[in-house]
Amino acid sequence: MATEDWIPAKDARQMAMDGDLPPPKYIANNNTKFGPIETSPPFAPVPVIDISLLISSSKQEDDQLTELAKLRSALTTWGCFQAVNHGLDDSYLDNLRQVTKQFFDLPLEEKSKYSRQPGSSQGYGNDRTYFENQVQDWCDRLSLRLLPKNQIQLWFWPENPSTFRETIDDYTAKIRSIYVVIFEAMAKCLDLEENCFAKHFTKENDILLGRFMLYPPCPTPDAVLGVKAHSDRSGITLLLQDPGVEGLQVLNDGKWYMVPVIRDALFVNLGDQMQFTILYILIMSNEIFKSPIHRVVTSKEKGRISVAMFTEPDPDKEVGLVDVLVDEKRPRVYKTVKNYGVFNHECFQKGIIPLDAVRI
Ligand code: OGA
Ligand code: NI
Repeated sequence: MATEDWIPAKDARQMAMDGDLPPPKYIANNNTKFGPIETSPPFAPVPVIDISLLISSSKQEDDQLTELAKLRSALTTWGCFQAVNHGLDDSYLDNLRQVTKQFFDLPLEEKSKYSRQPGSSQGYGNDRTYFENQVQDWCDRLSLRLLPKNQIQLWFWPENPSTFRETIDDYTAKIRSIYVVIFEAMAKCLDLEENCFAKHFTKENDILLGRFMLYPPCPTPDAVLGVKAHSDRSGITLLLQDPGVEGLQVLNDGKWYMVPVIRDALFVNLGDQMQFTILYILIMSNEIFKSPIHRVVTSKEKGRISVAMFTEPDPDKEVGLVDVLVDEKRPRVYKTVKNYGVFNHECFQKGIIPLDAVRI
């Protein structure tokens, strides 16, 4: 049942500083749909992909083919990979983490200037409440629309620290050139026309959402989640992790694994829109591009910061299968949907796998 959007009085950082135990709304360990909360499962051997090798002109063809094969295997087994040699160096990424941290370290009143309003998704705060008894994440978030530029709502963009806006603007442009390379490589590794995915996500009006997250230390990491189990609604997601602490977990074959932290890597995972577009061709070959279920656990001692970038196609355009991939032998598996993002989010809050709900 739909309910009023609930905005907590204190953010998670403030509760952590005040030594509060997580309130009952945050207790997630009785939601066992995806197994109990394990704070230190085995590490996931997530493949590492060298982005510089995916750019055709720059390297030997053989190296490129090897890397494309690795990419294909990564996306059919784990649905995610660690991207290295993407062109953003150590100090650049550290600066991004630094301004993010500086924002979260501001007093609550200052951050509240950018508060998410009930019923909206941009701004500072926790997730929207869609349902009664919705479990809250132990996490503070700043959600911003970064692209297209004419839809930016600048009043949600912090003015403090003073370099925040320019840092994010620059990061947006750099991330965009990285995801263009990745979308093209994803098509190439399936022997598809290079532009067939990219065209949905990298046209003039491509949508990029940014989410800046702080997971403060939590006195009861076994009882709460930083983010409940979900699959992303994006095309792909590019995540910058905190070099100092792990927290992100992926589900594979019914078991949870911790994603290792590689200092300068971007963790890239497929979202549902990508799985939609590709899934059925791979069924015949017994390979399936996966949109992995993932979640975040918290730590008793350490806070964690992450920055996620979500590519989205135009919500008014239908997201369906790549046309060339549909024929009599390969029937479509999913319905075509509009505004998949909203649908995905409601499923997430209800604990339903959205792709199951749109299967034909
Ligand atoms: C997300 C997400 C992971 C992280 O925001 O969708 O999965 O490590 N974040 O913050
Ligand atoms: Ni996610």
